[in-house]
Amino acid sequence: MKRVVVTGAGGGIGAALARRFASEGAEVIVNDLDPAAAEAVASDIGGLPVPGDAANEDDTRRLIDTAWAELGGIDLFCANAGVLTAGDESTPDDVWTRDWNVNVMSHVYVTRALLPRWLQDDQPKRLLMTVSAAGLLTLLGSAPYAVTKHAALAYAEWLRATYHHRGITVQALCPQGVRTDMLTRGSERGSASAALLAESALEPDVVAAKVGEALLGDSFLILPHPEVAEFYRLRAGDPDRWLGGMNKMQRAFESGAR
Ligand SMILES: NC(=O)c1ccc[n+]([C@@H]2O[C@H](COP(=O)([O-])OP(=O)(O)OC[C@H]3O[C@@H](n4cnc5c(N)ncnc54)[C@H](O)[C@@H]3O)[C@@H](O)[C@H]2O)c1
Repeated sequence: MKRVVVTGAGGGIGAALARRFASEGAEVIVNDLDPAAAEAVASDIGGLPVPGDAANEDDTRRLIDTAWAELGGIDLFCANAGVLTAGDESTPDDVWTRDWNVNVMSHVYVTRALLPRWLQDDQPKRLLMTVSAAGLLTLLGSAPYAVTKHAALAYAEWLRATYHHRGITVQALCPQGVRTDMLTRGSERGSASAALLAESALEPDVVAAKVGEALLGDSFLILPHPEVAEFYRLRAGDPDRWLGGMNKMQRAFESGAR
């Protein structure tokens, strides 16, 4: 991949992806909401920082225009920025809206700006969407995250089904725990889910290496934790049993048994 954009690349998984692509010789645009974080990663890897909010349509259009102006196009767009808020039905509307905008609408804005350009020729292009295993399964302790990641996966599926024959390969990265600030913040808050996920968490550069392998093929799902495929099969094949298992885990969390 020669010309790459990564959103939310000032830290965590996005920074690891940006570093990996740069080390393979790609020209990389580093986006993040935090300008200093974007600058730091970009200067480290010889990339171009373009700070901005992935959940803002104008910022996203500016990011993509900059890529065309500076690199002449984009071969791989990594829509990676995402947020996780603990919460349930009582979580305030403004939090639900913010999480919806970052975890779902950011992908809509990217494709709105990118597809008219990408569909002009039949050169191969890739859209990597960082979703989560929570989009295939669920995440106890965060209804906004479980719901918005399901929606992000649904949008990725729809894009793949609609545009695959037109040279656009959409892939959905669905890890469980990854050792980043997002997971650390959860553990510090005392989230039982985060503590459980931390036990099998992968380092971000390991996830980036799995992505590197997956970009050589065109599998829709990228599952750095292979056991997620089995959980997903179980959920589809026997939802009552799977939900029974999840509820058992919830009860264990509530009783402090985990
Ligand atoms: N860490 C995990 O365990 C885990 C597991 C599965 C999926 N994910 C997903 O991976 C992606 C990256 O997560 P992470 O763990 O690296 O998180 P992180 O919080 O460690 O890093 C995310 C980066 O994105 C930036 N960011 C946040 N909102 C943004 C916005 N609106 N626009 C631009 N940048 C923004 C942050 O400033 C930060 O630098 C997210 O989509 C997340 O949901 C994470």
